[in-house]
Amino acid sequence: MSASVTVRVPAKVNVQLAVGAARADGFHDLANVFLAVGLYDEVTVTAADRLRITCDGVGAGQVPLDRTNLAARAAELLAGRYGIAPDVHIHIDKDIPVAGGMAGGSADGAGALVACDALWGTGAGRGELLELCAELGSDVPFSLVGGAALGTGRGEKLEPLDVGGGFWWVFAVADGGLSTPAVYREFDRLTPVAPAPGASPALLAALRDGDVRALAGAVSNDLQPAALSLFPSLRDTLATGTEAGALAALVSGSGPTTAFLAADAESARRVADALLASGTCRAARVAQSPAPGAMVL
Ligand code: C5P
Repeated sequence: MSASVTVRVPAKVNVQLAVGAARADGFHDLANVFLAVGLYDEVTVTAADRLRITCDGVGAGQVPLDRTNLAARAAELLAGRYGIAPDVHIHIDKDIPVAGGMAGGSADGAGALVACDALWGTGAGRGELLELCAELGSDVPFSLVGGAALGTGRGEKLEPLDVGGGFWWVFAVADGGLSTPAVYREFDRLTPVAPAPGASPALLAALRDGDVRALAGAVSNDLQPAALSLFPSLRDTLATGTEAGALAALVSGSGPTTAFLAADAESARRVADALLASGTCRAARVAQSPAPGAMVL
């Protein structure tokens, strides 16, 4: 058994986020098309005398270091399942924007689960790990599998999707965060009658064909009006990226990170430079998709 294990986990963007009505359990039924993007957190677990978390990197100051952190909950969940004490030091090296709608917290949960499984030699199967991920949060299973997938139910039931080519993205990191439950509540207020969500055939075809222009025409996010209502300045960020040549501009998940689909690497660079120069965001990151899921390094 090795003394420490490091797992690298990607961020995600939702190229379609179709949201239905609130269910009896408070969650919303979704048709959620996830695409993993090449911005990564690294989660390292080392045997210790008690469970503790440290975090370095971009936005590390905003990451909770107590048991509300999904990485800590992942270690406790797996340990509880196998009757082990969850005594590990979890170190998170953050590069995914914090509270940004890019599943950074979910990535850390999936990463800690895979890392603890390897450190403890628990040998949980893929199906069991996915089930534990779903218990941790709606987006956590996708952080484990990566690539592209359609999530249904509350987003946790995954069907892998074929992607016929790579796509270039720019992500504008906003000053401040948005609470996911607050964005869903605003969605409920703005959408008294939400139709049943379904995946867009045009979007799935664009992914399968690796056709960036078709993808740009098909992306959608039902949470975007709610995110813009709570964070109106995101309109300026979206407009800046569009003026700089982005083929599509949308809020990533529940926001406030905004995502821009670019024709190629050079166009992505131009969009990122324009976003930074405009002062309408705190940082602009270029990344490619699809990216692989959680991986032991
Ligand atoms: O599953 P997760 O803990 O990531 O969800 C965070 C919050 O987002 C939930 O408490 C709920 O308010 C909202 N949510 C929802 N419907 C979903 C997923 C999340 O209402 N399908």
